[in-house]
Amino acid sequence: MSEVILRNILLVSLLQDALSPPHCLQRELIMPQRWRPAGIHSLPVELLTWIFVLGSRFDYPYSDSPFLLKPDQEYNAAPSSNFQVIVSHVCQHWRQVALRTQSLWTTLHFREQSHIPRAKAYLARCLTSSTCLLDILVDTVAIEDHTPGITLYKEEIHTIFQIIVPHVERWRAFHLKICDNECKGAARHFLNTCGPAPNLETLQLYHFEDYRTTQNLYIATHRPPVVVFDNTLPRLKNVSLTGVNLPWAKSPYLKGLQNLELALHLDKIRPPYQWWDKMLRSSPELHTLCLHYSGPKEATDPTLVWPPAEEKVRLEWLQDLSLTDLDPGYLCNLFTRLQIPRLKKLTLELPEQNFTPFIELINEPAVEDIPILGSQSSPSRPSSLSPSPNLTVRLLANLEVLVIRALECSIQTWLSLLLSASALRVLEVDFSRVGAGFWKVFTKDACSLTINSGSQGQSDDYATQTLLPRLEMFKPVGVSGKDVLSALQHRYRQTPVVNGTSTERWYVKWSERRRYRDVELDSLVDARFWSPDNESGVSILPKVIIETYDDDEDPEEPEDDGQESSDSDGAL
Ligand SMILES: *[C@@H]1O[C@H](CO)[C@@H](O)[C@H](O)[C@H]1NC(C)=O
Repeated sequence: MSEVILRNILLVSLLQDALSPPHCLQRELIMPQRWRPAGIHSLPVELLTWIFVLGSRFDYPYSDSPFLLKPDQEYNAAPSSNFQVIVSHVCQHWRQVALRTQSLWTTLHFREQSHIPRAKAYLARCLTSSTCLLDILVDTVAIEDHTPGITLYKEEIHTIFQIIVPHVERWRAFHLKICDNECKGAARHFLNTCGPAPNLETLQLYHFEDYRTTQNLYIATHRPPVVVFDNTLPRLKNVSLTGVNLPWAKSPYLKGLQNLELALHLDKIRPPYQWWDKMLRSSPELHTLCLHYSGPKEATDPTLVWPPAEEKVRLEWLQDLSLTDLDPGYLCNLFTRLQIPRLKKLTLELPEQNFTPFIELINEPAVEDIPILGSQSSPSRPSSLSPSPNLTVRLLANLEVLVIRALECSIQTWLSLLLSASALRVLEVDFSRVGAGFWKVFTKDACSLTINSGSQGQSDDYATQTLLPRLEMFKPVGVSGKDVLSALQHRYRQTPVVNGTSTERWYVKWSERRRYRDVELDSLVDARFWSPDNESGVSILPKVIIETYDDDEDPEEPEDDGQESSDSDGAL
């Protein structure tokens, strides 16, 4: 039975109950056994339990990512599910069933003062089962945002750690957000002394501070990081560190990782290349890597020199890569040393500098041909280190999803990026944050854009080639209805253009309250699909479905500041 069906059964039963007043326990007392209606009360306890468990997982916070705290946005994690609490309030019978089901009470999220007694109550309900692992999130605020009695700060963080540390052996996920040094001190103390966490799979440490003075920044960064969990995290798989560093050389547990996210690290607290290399090589199953103003430390002194570019790390199973706010030269250095044969999803937020060399690099078909950038490789390296031809890959060959939040590069490079990504199914681009002319690729013949590319007659092929033949979903952000129309017309200027079978969906930003701002967009949305035949009036054959989305957080134009200031001084 699917979750949805179960949930529906539950809702229907709840409704029945609400409509027939005598409530469960009462009814059991009043009605003789054989008269009992076949409502929810006839469900065996096991089934009821199962429904409760599935219901509580309905808003499972980890469905997108193991990391609940995000570095790239004003953080607002979804509240933890309340389902188990609601069902436990329905009647005595349900309450008994719910309270006996230990796995319903293992999510301990602390965002407010009131969550402290709640967590104590939850813990008491799942205390006896050592198999029920705990998912913990602690979200504290800076002193200036602290409202005693409501938010969590220094005192509260002590209380919380005193509640959770005795159960450290049952932690499965631990997410901690701190905003200043007072809270950081407490976190350092407790994580340094809490002992091993044999079941911890996900560790997310997040220090996000608005450093007002250089003095504060100094205080925040001058103390070396401490050893955490006695260096014993045998099941660790998912690590996210935002603005927090670890004693890299003394953190043997950074291996066997599946999801790795490093964000907002000033160069001086980044891992030396040696440890970065070791971490990747000992994590053969890594499938998600996210670097946001972070990565291995630059080779600023002789002990930090990066190995020659031939010494590549092959990330065999990496599928999902996200890069935000990194320098083009740094990225080139980094990616000449990486091989990623199975990349499926690439997300780029690379504004303000010219990333042409980097995009060209990831577009290269054969790894050996890549010029060695800023490296001191000796010509006589043992041949075992150079990649054998069958290991060479084009990073974009299997790419299915491309998300461009921001990107500056030459239009030629942009075009060849799209042409190489021929397996792409999903494309999302914020055209308000990319190079001028990026949109033209969708409205003009490619050959008119490649005149001076000088790339061995490629432009002839380009002229007849349809961009992204396998595209299923396109989300162009920051373009007008008129632009969308002209791109549609261009894409379908000849039939059959796109390999016919699958229907494309284009997502445009629209909602009822935006009506009348853009008439072309309004009529596209009202029509719900676009077809080249609309215009000739011959037959109505839907080609492109028009879907809408609306991100509520920016009712007008998005503001661009804030993000930057946090990038430059958010690290510690
Ligand atoms: C850690 O990541 C793996 C692989 O993505 C996932 O299966 C697992 O559920 C994650 N662990 C937690 C606690 O989220």
